[in-house]
Amino acid sequence: MMKRRLKNILVTGGAGFIGSNFIHYVFNETKFNGRIINIDKLTYAGNLENLVEIDNKYGGERYFFEKADICDFDSLKRIFEKYDIDTVVNFAAESHVDRSIFGPKDFVQTNIMGTFTLLELARENWKGREDALFHHISTDEVYGSIQEGEYFYEETTYKPNSPYSASKASSDHLVRAYHKTYGLPTTISNCSNNYGSYQFPEKLIPLMMLNILEEKDLPVYGDGRNVRDWLYVEDHCSAVWEIINKGRDGETYNIGGENEWENIKLVNFLCEKIAKVKGKNEGYYKRLITFVKDRPGHDRRYAINCDKIKNELGWKRQYNFEEGLDSTIKWYMTNKGWVDRVRSGEYKKWVEKNYGLR
Ligand code: NAD
Ligand code: DAU
Repeated sequence: MMKRRLKNILVTGGAGFIGSNFIHYVFNETKFNGRIINIDKLTYAGNLENLVEIDNKYGGERYFFEKADICDFDSLKRIFEKYDIDTVVNFAAESHVDRSIFGPKDFVQTNIMGTFTLLELARENWKGREDALFHHISTDEVYGSIQEGEYFYEETTYKPNSPYSASKASSDHLVRAYHKTYGLPTTISNCSNNYGSYQFPEKLIPLMMLNILEEKDLPVYGDGRNVRDWLYVEDHCSAVWEIINKGRDGETYNIGGENEWENIKLVNFLCEKIAKVKGKNEGYYKRLITFVKDRPGHDRRYAINCDKIKNELGWKRQYNFEEGLDSTIKWYMTNKGWVDRVRSGEYKKWVEKNYGLR
């Protein structure tokens, strides 16, 4: 199996949840000795606080941050040349399904036009270069919704149902086309729902954890019986690391936790876990569960088959769900300042405008 020599990795969206965990993972858990260049537009979801330790340790030598929009060709061109980029790991995206329902425009712009812009740069800069790779981070949501007993495979037909997943599907198709048409060395990964530290508290797990801790309503959409497959973020990072090192050009790899939960069961489980930590009786927080209006176009069930990455690249997840949840609960309990800062400002205004206080 070929192993790539990665030297100067451009991580886009590195100040977000998975991108910042990925940068921590590469510096702390691998033998990589090259440079990471993090570019991020710093939207409401991007936070440089996530990378303070990395910046203190490696800043200016092996870690660099440049504030830039992935749709801005000229800035990216300067960055590509300045750092002699050989690898792109494209995390940057508008990532929250509910926001894409309220306003799809930014999703089309960043997720489709941004990926297109990066692909054009790679095509222009990497002519004749053999050690390059464009890795695109995508989602299982591009496959749509499936019945009990079915699974998403790499060959499953795309059937995106939300503006978010449609924009991710479009970007995946562009990546595929640049490989087929121009021979650009590319890989794509489609991952299931992540959770862990630094996740923006608009997503189900951190939102519920914080609302439980603050004894606020726990808004469960519809009947709560939608199913998601949860994976600890560090396991996603290790999978991406395997792919960029050893994945075959032009291939797609599914990544999942083989860990399906109905939302309502998961919310009940979080209530029980936090009750234990806080010394309350098991049912104490469950009274906060509130069924609310369903998400339009809400996909019923996602479930990933990830045999390909396991068999071909030898990846396997390291964390079980309980361990991952315990450390995530602990993280949110001990990082109250981070939580308060990311929930103030732009995000607070958006929530008040779109959801009312919750
Ligand atoms: P996030 O919203 O936490 O972070 C996104 C980051 O991208 C932020 O730092 C933001 O500032 C940056 N960004 C947004 N628009 C940009 C632009 N135009 N130019 C440069 N930077 C920009 O998202 P996340 O949950 O970390 O997701 C990262 C990637 O993983 C996304 O591509 C998402 O589709 C994919 N993904 C997420 C999950 C999940 O469960 N969170 C699962 C599978 C795939
Ligand atoms: O499957 C991968 C995807 O997972 C990623 O591509 C997306 O970037 C990421 O946001 C996530 O999308 P989901 O829509 O699955 O995640 P979210 O945390 O928003 O919701 C998870 C489930 O919980 C979903 O069925 C909707 C439900 N939900 C969510 C929120 C925020 C609720 O019932 N109440 C809520 O308040």
